[in-house]
Amino acid sequence: MTSFHCHDFDWNELAAACEGQLATPVENVDTSNLCTLAQDNWDVFHAKNNGKVYKPRNYLYKEFPELLKDNLTLLEIGCGYGSAIFPLLAQSPSMFAHVCDFSQHAITILQENSEYDGKRCHAFVCDVVSQEIDVPDASIDIVLMIFVLSAIPPHEFDNVMAKIYKALKPGGIVCFRDYGLYDLAMLRSSKRIESTSHGFNSLYYRSDGTLAYFFSKGELERIFTANNRFQVVENEYNTVRLRNRKTQTNMDRVWVHGKFQKI
Ligand SMILES: C[S@@+](CC[C@H](N)C(=O)[O-])C[C@H]1O[C@@H](n2cnc3c(N)ncnc32)[C@H](O)[C@@H]1O
Repeated sequence: MTSFHCHDFDWNELAAACEGQLATPVENVDTSNLCTLAQDNWDVFHAKNNGKVYKPRNYLYKEFPELLKDNLTLLEIGCGYGSAIFPLLAQSPSMFAHVCDFSQHAITILQENSEYDGKRCHAFVCDVVSQEIDVPDASIDIVLMIFVLSAIPPHEFDNVMAKIYKALKPGGIVCFRDYGLYDLAMLRSSKRIESTSHGFNSLYYRSDGTLAYFFSKGELERIFTANNRFQVVENEYNTVRLRNRKTQTNMDRVWVHGKFQKI
């Protein structure tokens, strides 16, 4: 279902009902081990699921209309196997996209897609935490970050921000979508980890060992505006209420939608 700018329920009411969740005991896991194994865990995820988990994200240009401008040079980090970039390239014939992911399996699946055209898309393996991103400085109009920052350890957020800042042209935009605080996935299928780093509290991990951070709007603003890199253009919760008819329960999904401009 399409959910851009959707507000099915008031996030503050959900927050009031869930506040205690952040005070719950944390799992006794070795965080540094999860960070070290992040690349392997995501590569196993992509090898196992073989491009069959994420559906094409056909809604992105409705959510971010600037993606439809002519002659854009785009950089997507954590592109997976192209769920975001293939619909965008099809919709914007003059777009050129650099896309990277640290999973070799994801990049191989993307390059083997019949829609992949090396003349319009440069796909490469890159760990945006430990490596430089292979694009010229100040060459990018739009950086796309779709469910990727949540997979990165919070103590590396600022490092990643510095790299995308460097890649963007002055006035360039970051289009951002990710998990929001108190999303169903946080409450149900992930385990909380003690994360004292930089005051980021809602770091979780899934049973496959991948990390998942659940962002508040305030945190997102703090991450992007730190060191005077970006100004906030949009920053909001999208809330979607799905009904499970079998169990007669609501499933409340929360995403953060953001647009940030390089100063
Ligand atoms: C939840 S998936 C989202 C994939 C894609 N953006 C989409 O919308 O379907 C997160 C992706 O980020 C990638 N990733 C996580 N940490 C990364 C890092 N440090 N450098 C590059 N890619 C990373 C993972 O391999 C995975 O493909």
